[in-house]
Amino acid sequence: MNVAFTSRTLSLSRPQLFRGIRKVQSSFATCSVLSANRAVVYTSNGDPSQVLSALTFSNLPPPPPNTVNVRFLLSPINPADINVIEGVYPAKPNPNASLSSSGKGSQDEPVFVAGNEGLAEVTNVGDGVTHLQPNDWVIMTRQQAGTWSTGMNVKPQDILKVPRSLNDVEAATITVNPPTAYNMLHDFVQLNEGDWVIQNGANGAVGQVVIQIAAAKGLKTINLIRNRNDIASLTEYLSNLGATHVVTYDELSDKSFRQRVKEWTGGKNIRLGLNCVSGKPTTLMTRLLGQNAHLVSYGAMSKEPLSLPTSLFIFKNLTCHGFWQSRWYDSKSSGEREKLVETLVGLMRAGKLKEPSHEILTIQGSEGDEEASQKIRHAIATLAKGQHGKKILLKMEETF
Ligand SMILES: NC(=O)c1ccc[n+]([C@@H]2O[C@H](COP(=O)([O-])OP(=O)(O)OC[C@H]3O[C@@H](n4cnc5c(N)ncnc54)[C@H](OP(=O)(O)O)[C@@H]3O)[C@@H](O)[C@H]2O)c1
Repeated sequence: MNVAFTSRTLSLSRPQLFRGIRKVQSSFATCSVLSANRAVVYTSNGDPSQVLSALTFSNLPPPPPNTVNVRFLLSPINPADINVIEGVYPAKPNPNASLSSSGKGSQDEPVFVAGNEGLAEVTNVGDGVTHLQPNDWVIMTRQQAGTWSTGMNVKPQDILKVPRSLNDVEAATITVNPPTAYNMLHDFVQLNEGDWVIQNGANGAVGQVVIQIAAAKGLKTINLIRNRNDIASLTEYLSNLGATHVVTYDELSDKSFRQRVKEWTGGKNIRLGLNCVSGKPTTLMTRLLGQNAHLVSYGAMSKEPLSLPTSLFIFKNLTCHGFWQSRWYDSKSSGEREKLVETLVGLMRAGKLKEPSHEILTIQGSEGDEEASQKIRHAIATLAKGQHGKKILLKMEETF
């Protein structure tokens, strides 16, 4: 039996949505269902507060041969996830085959499950899968896998086993931000102990990893952040992670700032700048780079364009790059990906890379879909306001 969830039923008509859910549940009536799955879904791109819904659906059947069933333990809400839902991000998820109307991801009524990153536990292994077993921890290697869900059936090649010696937050956040920070610190400039790196958005999750990996390599960092009421405690927090200097964009705008930087670096060239925000703070930051430096942009949180003086290219031989971890993953072999994850696991185990400052948003099994939807929309609205300071991770319990 195929059950259609249309964009109307998902985003507009709650009674119809619930009727649809009951149809899906009854379509699995032959199984005795004590608990059910739930996913955060959308059928059309737009403002997450309008288009996202929590959707309960029946338990997964046993995995077909050469596949495994997994249960998600924690799934981060990253800025790019919002952009994907809005439809302004280049990576697009595939429709969820079993939730879409044809049962095979119909073009007319596709249902997308949100979320790219997450930690899952293997619950059931299909025939032919030999290297995984129940209780193994895995992360997703397929992008836009739909991790804001309680459970999913996956192909073994779309997941990677991670050691249970990590804590769950470390494991759930290892796919996106730590590799981004690691690669930006290694792929563009050969940096040696004592060299300087400057970055903006330094208190973001990526920025915090940059601080820690740089410190582990003996690099010194100048870390730019937005001013705020609790600036002293944030500065202390980043310093404890290993930041050499923490400065606000207001201080960066001050004419005397260049002189302060010269005193800090002893006149040594800063050869790597990392840009998370663009806009004016990035123009000012780039002016502080030395000869033959590289500016690597990986985010545009201010939503402002990046504008740089031509003189920096002519007289300082500045080189600008964009970095996208997804492109890195697409261009590397599975062996290279595994090696990077091993390196990051090693840094975590050595206590050199801590989990991001975070909060866990639990969607309890006893909550209805409407209540769950409101909670998720509220979390996303909170993040959109900025200065939240904590990565939010979804913990979705099976419904009952
Ligand atoms: N290219 C890649 O491969 C890649 C990989 C990972 C992440 N990213 C991107 O990197 C960025 C940061 O990701 P994240 O996970 O670190 O996010 P995050 O933890 O939410 O941090 C966001 C950072 O952006 C700052 N910010 C937010 N709105 C701003 C605004 N209007 N003006 C100036 N700064 C603003 C925040 O400062 P406040 O605390 O002051 O709000 C914070 O420093 C995102 O754009 C994300 O998509 C890219």
